[in-house]
Order: sequence, then C-alpha cells, then structure tokens
Amino acid sequence: MKKIEIAEGIHMLSMNVEEMLFEGIWEVANGVTLNSYIVKGEKTAIIDGVIGWDGVPETLYKNLEEIDVNPKDIDYLIVNHMEPDHSGWIENFAKIKEDFTIICTDKAARLVNSFYGDSDRIRIVKEGDTLDLGNGKKLSFHPTPNVHWPDTMLTYESGTKTLFSCDMYGAFGKMEKHHFDDEMTSEEVEFFEKEGIRYYSNVMTTFTAAIRKAIQKTEEFDINIIAPGHGPLYRKNPQKIIDDYGRFSQYAEGGGKNEISILWGSMYGMTEKAVNFAEKILQREGIKVNKLEMPLESQSEMIATVFRSAGVIIAAPTYEYKMFPPVAAALDELGRKKVTGKAVFRFGSYGWSGGAEKELAEIIERNRMKWDFVESVEFEGSPKQEDLEKIEAGIMELIEKMKEKIVE
Ligand code: FEO
Repeated sequence: MKKIEIAEGIHMLSMNVEEMLFEGIWEVANGVTLNSYIVKGEKTAIIDGVIGWDGVPETLYKNLEEIDVNPKDIDYLIVNHMEPDHSGWIENFAKIKEDFTIICTDKAARLVNSFYGDSDRIRIVKEGDTLDLGNGKKLSFHPTPNVHWPDTMLTYESGTKTLFSCDMYGAFGKMEKHHFDDEMTSEEVEFFEKEGIRYYSNVMTTFTAAIRKAIQKTEEFDINIIAPGHGPLYRKNPQKIIDDYGRFSQYAEGGGKNEISILWGSMYGMTEKAVNFAEKILQREGIKVNKLEMPLESQSEMIATVFRSAGVIIAAPTYEYKMFPPVAAALDELGRKKVTGKAVFRFGSYGWSGGAEKELAEIIERNRMKWDFVESVEFEGSPKQEDLEKIEAGIMELIEKMKEKIVE
C-alpha cells in the first residue's frame, strides 16, 4: 500500500488490486487501484476507505500509524458510496474503535444497515451540508445520485480545494511509481486514458445522464486537486479529466474515435473470409481497425473497444435460425450498458436459411439502442466476388456515416 501526502494534512492510502473480477464480472487486465484519504484537522476523517480490504484490523493499524494517525483518534468515516470497494472497511474499523460517526446520504444509510448492521453511528447529509474538522479543514457534501449507485456523493475540502470524487473521474489500471497527472509520462497518460475508457464503459456508462449532471456540479467548485477512488489524481490540470469524462459521455451516445470495431464470429471460416476482406478495405482507407472475435475476446475489452469507436461492423453468420450466439450475446451486453447511437454495418453468411438479421433487429429494438445501420449484406456460404463488392460499398457508406460521429 502506498501512503502519500496529497495536500497539507491530507494523506492518500492507495493499493493495487489484481487477479480479481471487478464487481464479480469485469476482468481488470491491468489491475485497479483503490484509493482512500485521511483528512486531519483537530478531528480526523477517513474518506472512501479501502484499508480493510484484506479483512485484517492489523493492516489498518499499521498503515495509519505509518502516517502518524492513531486509529483511536479517527472521528468520522465519510462514505461517499456504499459499494464495498469503498466501504468494506466499516466492519473492520468497528473492531478497533467504538465511538465514531459515519457520514453518508440517506440512501447509503439504508445499505450501511443492510451490509454491516450499524445503524447507531450514522449522520445523514444533504446537498451543501458541512463538517468542520478544525485547523482549517472543512468538508462539504454533495449528493450525485447514480454515480454510480443511488447513494453516491462528492466530498469537497475547502481549505485545500480538494474534490474527493469516489467513482467519478476514476480509471482502471494499477499505479506504480506515479500517482499525479504532473508526474505521468506521455505513455502513462495514454495508458490511463485507455483504462479510463475501459472503466467508464464497463462500470459507469449505464449512468451517463447522471454523470453529465455530476460534471455540471463539478464545475461549481474551485478545484486544486481531483482525488478519485480509483486511478490517478489530477492537480496540474483537473480540467483534463473533467473534459475526458465529458467526451466519454459522448461515446456512450454514438460518438467515438476515428476507429471501426469489427465485432465478429465465424463457425467454419465463411464469414471470416469477409472479415479479412473488410480489414484490408479499412486499412486502405486509413481507418484504425479493432477486431473483436467472439467468444474469444473478454467482455470487458469488447465493451470498451466498441464504446470508443465511432463505427461498428457486425460480422456474424446465421446459427439455428438466429444470430451466431456469442455475437448476439455481445450485442445484448452493449444494449444493457446503453451504448447507443453507433454507426453500424452488418454482414454474414447463411447456409440453409437466414435469421441473424431478424434477431439483430430484435436486440437493437429490445435494448433501445438506436444504432444507425447501413443496409446489411448476407451471402450464402462463402462470399463471392459480387458479395465482396457489396461489402466494400457498405464499408464506404459506413465510413461516410461515421464521420459526423467522430469525437477525438
Ligand atoms: Fe468503486 Fe461503484 O464502486
């Protein structure tokens, strides 16, 4: 665990977590950090604690002592969000101290009780409520429902102008030596932008409307540091991550980079021949291509890659009168995540009958995805020259269609 003083009287405890499925679903190929913060005035508060992650109270003691905090002196646990990656320490903390106050929203209070059975120590806060810790440290609380659960809030420390944003402005990806935006190399900046997109698309994109409201709320603060619950801190240019999140919210609704993702699967290589042809056409046109073969690709990577692309090609054959199931399942997952408005072209082979096209329409309709389609191309068996010509025409039409959706 890393211990860093991020501003006068405010320490971060940060730990890297790997080899786990985030939320029990998402493969975090490059790990994730869990950040918590200790704010010391005359009184002391912990915000977004992760230090009980291993369930061992001694870990908590040890890490606090190393930053000169006696656990007995902690007065407040600030629960910005009850998801256990931020709140799992409540149970642990209660083992080492009896008299403390949990500060949270009314919705979080319900979960404190149902997760940890700790109803006596809660103080519920509303928009703008404050907590003066003394010595110039004053916290204020700002509910941001559905960023990412209904219980969530931001906490702002006015003395140092630090915004503790919890899931908002977070990213996947381990932090090694560097933790602040002004320490990062250009490769690390690129890495965390990509991991930010993976995090947003896997965990947050369903809540894009709420995230836009949280961005507006952020703009009301005078900010020196944005300190999220996951990923790097922003002190040189906090506006960068605010702008990144604004851009990601556009990706959720059809915008994207000048890239085309080919979401594909093939039973015996007939559709794959057309995929390889499509890849060559896209390379000829200078468009970055991302090939996502289902079911071999991870769901996490598939969602992140389609999410950030302005254009999508679905290449899937008919299978038992419906769409090749791994591709249909991927589309359903994108629908659940509310990835809407993408520019799309589909092709695929059939043997005895069609059916993939009908199921595609059902998935798009059922999930209200509002994807904008170029006319599909279906071919019997292996694609013939005339089929490839139709596919090339479809790709050229897709490239035109996606131009208005590019957000870099
Ligand atoms: Fe990082 Fe919604 O928990």
